Formats: sequence, structure tokens, C-alpha cells
Amino acid sequence: MGAARVAAAHSGAAKAAPFHSMAGVRFERKDPRVAFIGVGNRGTALLKNMLGAEAKIVAICDIVPEYAKKAQAMVEKTGQPTPELYTDGDHAYEKLVKRGDVDLVIVATPWSWHARMAVAAMEHGKHVCVEVPAVRTLEECWQIVHVSEKTRRHCMMLENCCYGYNETLVLRMAQDGRFGDLLWGEGAYLHDLREELFGNAHEGLWRRTENTLRNGNLYPTHGLGPVANYMGILRGDNFSHIVSMSSPARGLAAYRAEHVPAGDPKWKERYVEGDMNTSLIKTVKGLTITVKHDVSNPTPYSRINALGGVKGQFMDYPPRIYFDGQPGGEKWADLSGFKQYEHPLWTKMGQIAKKLGGHGGMDFIMLYRLLENFRNGLAPDMDVYDAALWSSVGPLSIASVAHGSAPQQFPDFLRGGWKNREISAVGK
Ligand SMILES: NC(=O)c1ccc[n+]([C@@H]2O[C@H](COP(=O)([O-])OP(=O)(O)OC[C@H]3O[C@@H](n4cnc5c(N)ncnc54)[C@H](O)[C@@H]3O)[C@@H](O)[C@H]2O)c1
Repeated sequence: MGAARVAAAHSGAAKAAPFHSMAGVRFERKDPRVAFIGVGNRGTALLKNMLGAEAKIVAICDIVPEYAKKAQAMVEKTGQPTPELYTDGDHAYEKLVKRGDVDLVIVATPWSWHARMAVAAMEHGKHVCVEVPAVRTLEECWQIVHVSEKTRRHCMMLENCCYGYNETLVLRMAQDGRFGDLLWGEGAYLHDLREELFGNAHEGLWRRTENTLRNGNLYPTHGLGPVANYMGILRGDNFSHIVSMSSPARGLAAYRAEHVPAGDPKWKERYVEGDMNTSLIKTVKGLTITVKHDVSNPTPYSRINALGGVKGQFMDYPPRIYFDGQPGGEKWADLSGFKQYEHPLWTKMGQIAKKLGGHGGMDFIMLYRLLENFRNGLAPDMDVYDAALWSSVGPLSIASVAHGSAPQQFPDFLRGGWKNREISAVGK
């Protein structure tokens, strides 16, 4: 996105609608009836965990009928009535969102579909959860904010990493002041996706293409969401601006040279996404956050997940902690001495979460919490403002890379409403 368009997205869109905040708005108290749009790899994993949390599934949409039927069979196996399928092309979801018996829609489709599916769901009176990143452009960030405010429906991003065991424990330590005044954080998505990106199914059908279109941090929220929660972003602080740089783009072309036969249409592609994108965010209160992204090279999986303050530091992969004056001198300790900070959700539901197995259990913890908040008529932990802000790192990093790493201001999606807001509910 060019600088002019970025500026337009900041100013014009922000004035387009009156401000009726969705922060802290409670769900109507009920056991939500759930519909799925997109039951590929991720949608199926979410469905398994939703069924584990005894969610009622009433409708399923996917353009691949076999995927939809497989998901339907998963629901039937639990003894629930057969959910209706919507498989008749790219716009079948428009029929699904018109149903009168759906309260919550889960969107787990390719990125380019997220915004319009979320908007359609809200416009038809449904709350919606969207996979990560929730949206791709600043215009879409403002669109979900405005539609959520207008329709009074929540639009939440399914940032499962905010519910990891370590992430929730460190959040509770940060909220308890153990790190003292916070100074810096680091997050990342370092994941060798080359085989998947070059596959002929699932993400191979759409995610490699994203690397031919844009150069920046295309997938920022797994590393950033937990750090934003540690720092109370949108709850007393906010992102101010970002600068970003990308390394050369080499990994995907090198992989293609070794694995893709001559003549394959993939040889027509030109990859523009720099392999390692490094972005640096400054918060309004002056804290710094680095966010990295590399899916195109050999690397052990890491979200880095680090936090530093005046009294100590935490670093993940592997988890280790250091506090001022720690016995044993200037050496890391493991987390075993901090069990008292384990999140009550993990204490209560950790075993079943691990058994269901989505990303070590955090998928279940996230969905169980979402359903509990809905069933008890509470506000969701994460709302449309978190979704828009964390996702905006995508287009803003792209704009910075395109302009010699020039600083890009974050839009104030909550229009000042973050200043006196309570700390993140995820930790409670
Ligand atoms: N939170 C996580 O840990 C995590 C992990 C993996 C993927 N994801 C996210 O989940 C989303 C889906 O990724 P995936 O790995 O499941 O990809 P996938 O390709 O396996 O699944 C996408 C599904 O969407 C379907 N689809 C495409 N267009 C559609 C349309 N118009 N209507 C209905 N269905 C449509 C496809 O047929 C496919 O089944 C992405 O946003 C991705 O970033 C999140």
C-alpha cells in the first residue's frame, strides 16, 4: 500500500462513522449456536476443539464438499443433529450467514476472504471469530471496526497463542508486577512452511501467492498478541508507530529450484516477500517491541515470546527467566519456581486441552474461554480493536518497507478509549 493510501486510511475512514465503542460489551447470555466457514486444516482443528467444549454446531460451509462432509461427520459422531452444508461455490457463505439459528460464526478461510465473511456475518446479526491475521489492509481494519460498532456484534480474532501455557503464566506475572516497569518485548513467527507452501492442496493453493504480492510481516499476530497483552496494549497503552525492514527474498525461489519440475506453472511466480522481515514497534508510553517473520527458510519453530522490565526478563524457546538478585548469579532459571502463576484455566482444563491437542492445548483453552464468556454473558477477552490493531502490523510494515523503513503511525482504532481501560482480561 502506498503512503497516500495509508494516510487516507488513517484519516478518512476514522471519520466515516460515529463512535459507539464495542470495548467491554457483553455477549447476550446463551449457549451460542455455531457455524463454520472454512473447514480445511485449521477449521477442522478448531471444530474438533469446539466439539470438545460441547459447542452446538448447526451449519458448515466450504467450497470443497468432501471437507464439509468430513466436518459434518465429526459433528454427527458426537450425537448432535446433522449440521446443514453450504458447498455451492465461493459465495455459499452468504446463504449461511442469513440463517436465523446461528449466534456465532467461525471463519477459517484464506486471508483474502476474512474481511468480507466477517462483515457479512455481523451484518446478519452474528458475532464472528476470524482466524489470523483477521484482515490484510488498513481499509479492512477500519471496516471490521465500523461494522462491529454499527451492528453491535463482536468481531474477534482467534489468536490462540495468547492462551498458551507460558504466555498466560507470564501475563499473570507481568500483571502482578514481577518484571517491574516493562521496557521491551519480542515476538515472531519463525516457521519453515516451504513444503506446505509448495503443496498442491490447502495452504499451497493460496498462501504462496501472498508472497508474490506483498513484502512485510504477513503473519504478525502469533508473536505480537501475547506481548501486547503483557504490556496492556489498548488497556492503558497503545502502539504509536512502526519501522520495518525485509531481507532479500531468496528462500522460496531456492526451494522451487530444488523441488519443482521445469514447466510447472509455479515457475512463472516471482516472490517479493523478503525472507526475514524485522519490524520495530514503539508504544505511546515508549516501550519497544520487535516482531519477526520468516516462513521461507530452514529454522526451528519459534515465536520468540520475550519480555523485559526493570526487575527481570523472560524468554521462550526454551522458556527461561531471570530476576534481579536471582540465586545462582546471572544465569537463567526454568519456570518450575513460578507454578503459582499458572492460569486457572490451565489448572482446571489443561489435561483435556492437551488431550485434544491443538497446539499443545492452547486452541482448546481459547475456545473454551470464548464459549464460557458467551455462556455467562461476559465480554470477550479480545475484541475488534485487538483484531484490527494487531493485524494492522501487516499493512503498516509493508508501507514502511516500501518507503525505506520510514515510520508509519498506527491508527487509533479505539479513538482514545484505551487510556483508562482495565488490563487484559486474558490473565484473569
Ligand atoms: N491460529 C493458528 O494457529 C492457525 C494455524 C493455521 C492456519 N491458521 C489460519 O487459518 C486460516 C485457514 O488456514 P488453513 O491452514 O486451514 O488453510 P486451508 O487451505 O487448509 O483451509 C482453508 C479452507 O477454506 C476453504 N475456502 C476457500 N475459499 C472459501 C470460500 N469462499 N468459502 C468457503 N470456504 C472456502 C478451502 O476450501 C479450505 O478448506 C488462515 O487464515 C490461516 O492463517 C491459523
